[in-house]
Amino acid sequence: MKAIEVAHLSKHFANQQIAVDDLNLSINQGEVFGFLGPNGAGKTTTVKLLNGMLQPTDGGMTVFGHDPTKESSTIHQFSGVLTERAGMYDQMTGIDNLMFYGEVFGLSKQESRERGLSLLEQLELTYAADRKLTSYSTGMRQRLSLARALIHQPKILFLDEPTSGLDPESVLNVNRLIQDLAKNQGITVFLCTHQLRYAQEICTSYGLLDEGKLLATGTLESLRKQTFKGLKVQIAANQLNLLEPYETLSNGEFEFTLSSEKEIPELVRKIVQSGSDVYSVSAKEMTLEEIYFALLEEGGPAHG
Ligand SMILES: Nc1ncnc2c1ncn2[C@@H]1O[C@H](COP(=O)(O)OP(=O)(O)OP(=O)(O)O)[C@@H](O)[C@H]1O
Ligand SMILES: [Mg+2]
Repeated sequence: MKAIEVAHLSKHFANQQIAVDDLNLSINQGEVFGFLGPNGAGKTTTVKLLNGMLQPTDGGMTVFGHDPTKESSTIHQFSGVLTERAGMYDQMTGIDNLMFYGEVFGLSKQESRERGLSLLEQLELTYAADRKLTSYSTGMRQRLSLARALIHQPKILFLDEPTSGLDPESVLNVNRLIQDLAKNQGITVFLCTHQLRYAQEICTSYGLLDEGKLLATGTLESLRKQTFKGLKVQIAANQLNLLEPYETLSNGEFEFTLSSEKEIPELVRKIVQSGSDVYSVSAKEMTLEEIYFALLEEGGPAHG
């Protein structure tokens, strides 16, 4: 069974704002799906639709076979959601908040406590377990929200910007946890994020949304193929006497655009034969960030 299926999903708001426009998605179980796109693209709206927090204007969707417009409480039993504003109780301690939610989901007091403490440890919040949330920093709250989303061992996690407001060390830690949940526990993750470098490390597939429309979807490899504009090869050499087109980079290296790695030996041979010394050759594949901008540029007419 697919973890998520979305067909022709649209959401129009009362102000005529089209937040999601004929969206189609199909996400396998165990996938870490990176849902990317600029501010206002429609990512959060999609998460809310998938959780039954909003009703679609058109189209349909299922989460592990359940329809969020009719069975949202069933979906909540097996899903964990981290959105911008997680409802937590400021006057309660970290562990009490987690235990409260554990019990809401039907765990016993004992189970809630054990699981809560173990999540606090994984998220490096043990020291703050017995402190009220009024004394938590933004990043501490954000990590506690993630612990809350995980308290009932969900099989699917919806994470909307889980690392916003976190310091670099906590970002690493949270990303490691997400990766571990997917790899070792088979949890499906639907991850909205602007942090493309981390997305590239932890996601197994992607969807790129802009103005409510899906511009591309697939693995990094397939997105690379869609946006391939040539392999950039950087060469450090003492001089160049070549007819082939190249660019001189700011670090003094020369950059060539080839159609594949197979052309590298021939190029190096030519450079050497022309009397130059070659010190290094490196070929760099397009990063997720480069792909993201290339796709957005190609995107709809609004981007010219
Ligand atoms: N309740 C609402 N009423 C009217 N318009 C809304 C509502 N919620 C969202 N929108 C609009 O829908 C569009 C998509 O918003 P959404 O929050 O889904 O974007 P996003 O991709 O999550 O952006 P960000 O990266 O900034 O979080 C935006 O133009 C937004 O203004
Ligand atoms: Mg959002």
